[in-house]
Amino acid sequence: MSDSPPLPETLVQPLGEAALDQAATWIARGMPVAVPTETVYGLAADALNSDAVAAIYAAKGRPSFNPLIVHVDSLAMAAGLAHFDAVAEKLATAFWPGPLTMVLPVRQAAGLSPLVMAGLPTVAIRMPAHRAMQALIARCGVPLAAPSANRSGAISPTTAGHVMASLGGRIPFILDDGPTTAGLESTIVAPEADRIRLLRPGPVTIEALEQVSDLPVLTSDTGSIEAPGQLTSHYAPGKPVRLHAMEAHPDEFLIGFGPVQGRISLSERGDLAEAAAALFAALHLADASALPRIAVAPIPEEGLGLAINDRLRRAAA
Ligand code: TXA
Ligand code: MG
Repeated sequence: MSDSPPLPETLVQPLGEAALDQAATWIARGMPVAVPTETVYGLAADALNSDAVAAIYAAKGRPSFNPLIVHVDSLAMAAGLAHFDAVAEKLATAFWPGPLTMVLPVRQAAGLSPLVMAGLPTVAIRMPAHRAMQALIARCGVPLAAPSANRSGAISPTTAGHVMASLGGRIPFILDDGPTTAGLESTIVAPEADRIRLLRPGPVTIEALEQVSDLPVLTSDTGSIEAPGQLTSHYAPGKPVRLHAMEAHPDEFLIGFGPVQGRISLSERGDLAEAAAALFAALHLADASALPRIAVAPIPEEGLGLAINDRLRRAAA
């Protein structure tokens, strides 16, 4: 696929049998389509087809060294793609389907496009807990590679409208099933025999991982090597972002939380799950406002707050 493929207009259709048929048809033809998961909307394509995976990179304008997450709808499909040790099995049992991605040794015979792993001996796998993505994988009968459905370097999409604003005219189809519920990209871990390395904080918290596994969770200080897609600018809006703001400067769009009131609030009652679900939509709104700067109220660095602050620090970088 070339850089500027001739595409029909991007069609947005609500989830249903007809929409699933269309989405599956595009995927069978090697084209990527946008589909919601419980975290963010993904841009999904057949993970076994290198042309299809290349089309994801082309639509996103993404550096091709970033490996992609492979989405499955069953443990059997997952086990066919990667080697699961006891720790990985335990985590899968506890957190799948759900917003946890595991980086595991790839089975070379699985037939995954090498572009998915971008040269690594491991593959990132997750089983999403969303009816649209699950139905689409089942209908296609193949694992689907899917990064977030936005232009590379932009804020992740939590609504079909966000996808349209970022990728409209570059992809054929968006499956719309309303706003996503978790709102932050999945937690990424690399399970090992005696510890779990956290490659990206997300909706599954360190506390939950430790409780289920009885193993220490190590936050990686070499994240740039472990998870190559974690570029600091990954979540950047187009404006300067000031964190830990208690009030707005005159030229700032303040995003509030708890007692700090802004133009909008991530959660007036200071609830972190509510704030995570609202975060990217708030950044999209702030980015689109007439004010030249964005400010964000302090978010506690605990539980889900770790993942929220991780995304905010990237947005401010
Ligand atoms: O919630 C999510 O995870 C969403 C939805 C669509 O599932 N997907 C998502 O994908 O956030 P993406 O491409 O934006 O982020 C994938 C991350 C990147 O940081 C990449 O470096 C990391 O996964 N990754 C993929 N394969 C890897 C591997 N083999 N080793 C280490 N990191 C890997
Ligand atoms: Mg992304």
